[in-house]
Amino acid sequence: MNILVINGPNLARLDIRDSAIYGDMTYPQLVAHIDNAAQTQGFKADIRQSDDEAIIIGWLHEAADKNLPVIINPAAFTHYSYAIRDAVVLVKAPVIEVHLSNPLAREEFRHTSVVSGVSTGTIGGFGPNSYVLALIALKALLA
Ligand code: DQA
Repeated sequence: MNILVINGPNLARLDIRDSAIYGDMTYPQLVAHIDNAAQTQGFKADIRQSDDEAIIIGWLHEAADKNLPVIINPAAFTHYSYAIRDAVVLVKAPVIEVHLSNPLAREEFRHTSVVSGVSTGTIGGFGPNSYVLALIALKALLA
């Protein structure tokens, strides 16, 4: 089954982000990690990243039109993008929100997710394995 994995702003620059928060993987390594785990769970993952809110919204519209399950790390958009929230509502297949870090253990502005309330579930704080856990959850949901 095809799924869409969407990564938001600044995630392609994991190489220069704080490794104490985001770990040591580069973005290409993260993509390979997600791709391998997706295959293990029997999914074909289309893994995309954009720093642009409009592009991410377009991808969510595509998921809605094609009825694709989505794993999304909205990055900083998590905390304030009502437009991404509204686009997630349009996707009728499961949508799992993931975070590398645990936003609830960080600055107060990260304690709010405008996406969680319209997602099937949220997984954060496990580094790259947040995506692996999301894939396992998705497999169980769709079984
Ligand atoms: C993040 C957490 C967000 O608060 C932050 O803005 C990010 C990454 C994470 O994966 O831990 O860019 O979504």
